[in-house]
Amino acid sequence: MRDTDPGANEVADIMLDWYDRNARALPWRIPPGSAQPADPYRVWLSEVMLQQTTVASVKDYFHRFTQRWPTVSDLASAHDADVMGEWAGLGYYARARNLLKCARVVAWDHGGRFPDTHDALLALPGIGPYTAAAVAAIAFGRAETVMDGNVERVMARLYDIHVPLPAAKPALKARAAALTPLHRPGDYAQAMMDLGATICTPKSPACGLCPLRDLCAALAAGTAADLPKKTAKKPKPTRRGIVYLGRRADGAWLLERRPDRGLLGGMLGWPGSDWAETATESPPVAADWQHLAGEVRHTFTHFHLILTVRSADLPLHSRPDTGFFLAQGDFRPGDLPTVMRKAFYLVQGA
Ligand code: ADE
Repeated sequence: MRDTDPGANEVADIMLDWYDRNARALPWRIPPGSAQPADPYRVWLSEVMLQQTTVASVKDYFHRFTQRWPTVSDLASAHDADVMGEWAGLGYYARARNLLKCARVVAWDHGGRFPDTHDALLALPGIGPYTAAAVAAIAFGRAETVMDGNVERVMARLYDIHVPLPAAKPALKARAAALTPLHRPGDYAQAMMDLGATICTPKSPACGLCPLRDLCAALAAGTAADLPKKTAKKPKPTRRGIVYLGRRADGAWLLERRPDRGLLGGMLGWPGSDWAETATESPPVAADWQHLAGEVRHTFTHFHLILTVRSADLPLHSRPDTGFFLAQGDFRPGDLPTVMRKAFYLVQGA
């Protein structure tokens, strides 16, 4: 560790040089230093998918989306249900609803071309500061600072910052902004993300392999593995509910489309009770509902959920209060969000 702060150019030069040799090959990326600019549609789609989701989980989804909808205008013309179905399993479903809104604004109000500045991107539906900065830097070469959890961790360690997250966010952003280069800002942003994902990892960072090891204040102080500090989170409460998997005599399943607002908004699901401290029976139609052994457990951002599952054979003339029947041939468990898929597999295994 030097006596002085690392110069901004020094960090950027080291990181770009490291990225040239170590960039991960990812489906939405162009190789480092390419003459061809990255396709803004692919950059935007990947960045939305990557929020709160790992690179490994995103790859297949990204592939299927871009095969089915190769341009933002193709996506804009898609049926909502098809997009929600392709997104099923990726979680945080508001992202998918906003994805469609954004695609339609870009296709219909911007002639199918993404605007090329941070502020104009920020004005689009579902694009927040992170995505605006990432798309502006990676697709349009703007010198924006792209902050995600990886970059926060790298900054906390490089400058040995012990203020806990989230309070430390503004200080970490200021440090990152001071390092962002005018030259190749998109490659630089992705270099920082790759460093955080592969070397400057949350546990057991591989400091011996780090291109910034000579500049890292936390490595010199022996604190790297303890940073960033985090304010303890409140424990998550547990909620309970009941879902009803009804199957008609012709094989059709009783499903509902969840309201756009709220958890799993816009997704297919099984009719059921509210999710609360205790679950209340609320069958969608009178039937001989059987209690299945076992239960479904699922964790959302703010709570754990335990679902009791009931199943029933329904007559052909069944007229439920809520939901609709989906013919056996049109039902794909893959179109369900994960928690609802778990309930289906519980019934299947019964
Ligand atoms: N995480 C979020 N965006 C990323 C990107 N462009 N490259 C690698 N990891 C990421």
